[in-house]
Amino acid sequence: MNYRHAFHAGNFADIVKHLILARALTYLQRKDKPLFVLDTHAGLGVYDLQSEAARKTAEAVDGIGRLWPHLDGAPEAAAALLGPFADAVRSLNGTGNPRFYPGSPALIAHLMRPQDRAVFCELHDADHSALAARFARAGRIRVNHVDGWQALKTLLPPPERRGLVIIDPPFEARNEFDIMLNGLDAAVQRFATGTFLAWYPIKHEAAVDAFRGGVGQRFSDTLLIEMTVAAPADAAFHGSGMAIINPPYTLASELETLLPWLVQRLERQPGAGACRIEALS
Ligand SMILES: C[S@@+](CC[C@H](N)C(=O)[O-])C[C@H]1O[C@@H](n2cnc3c(N)ncnc32)[C@H](O)[C@@H]1O
Repeated sequence: MNYRHAFHAGNFADIVKHLILARALTYLQRKDKPLFVLDTHAGLGVYDLQSEAARKTAEAVDGIGRLWPHLDGAPEAAAALLGPFADAVRSLNGTGNPRFYPGSPALIAHLMRPQDRAVFCELHDADHSALAARFARAGRIRVNHVDGWQALKTLLPPPERRGLVIIDPPFEARNEFDIMLNGLDAAVQRFATGTFLAWYPIKHEAAVDAFRGGVGQRFSDTLLIEMTVAAPADAAFHGSGMAIINPPYTLASELETLLPWLVQRLERQPGAGACRIEALS
């Protein structure tokens, strides 16, 4: 396990991922009933963008660093949709430029209601310890030092019967797309009504295309959301996607409002970025 999210936190891919997570959670909280949230690959929880790791790659500069100055000028419809995510960033930083960036656990913790429950899984020893310390006193949040793929089997279905699962692995293994499909298969079999957010990188088009096909074959109600910030070149990391199984029915239209605006903020050259919002059935 070499991957450390501290080098990448707050980059363009995190922004899209966390916006989708915030929109999905906000939708599921329209009902008062308790909600279970499982984050299978949780990371550190909060990231200091002035840490050595963050400064070394400076990826956040082209992510939250570029987005933040534009938030106030966002068109009204987009600003409303950005609200819960922006509030989570402000909760760590006040109104100034963000130094601290909320990873998925901090975003979930920020948006949880008293009746909701969350489990965060992290396998890396040091990151798990930091995450567990951060949420040690948070009621209704458990931090598990376990394999997130196993957690999909042991923690689903939740007693609440309403839930959101985010699966955000490091994509270090060569066969991570297959591992993702198998993990999703096992999870959806156990918890057919859950909402699943499965993140993936866009590097090699052929691998992504095979994954899209696999998702389409296996799951009936799925949304694919993708954003690229540059043209494909030498299989470099230039975009990311999320396969969303049992998506909130409002999500596609929300992202049709949000993503074109976001692409313009985050693309590396004018016109180089793109987004894709595709319902598979
Ligand atoms: C992409 S990062 C997660 C980022 C986080 N979801 C966020 O949005 O802030 C992936 C994390 O998964 C952890 N990890 C790797 N393999 C794992 C496994 N099998 N089970 C649980 N965590 C794992 C890594 O240590 C890393 O912290």
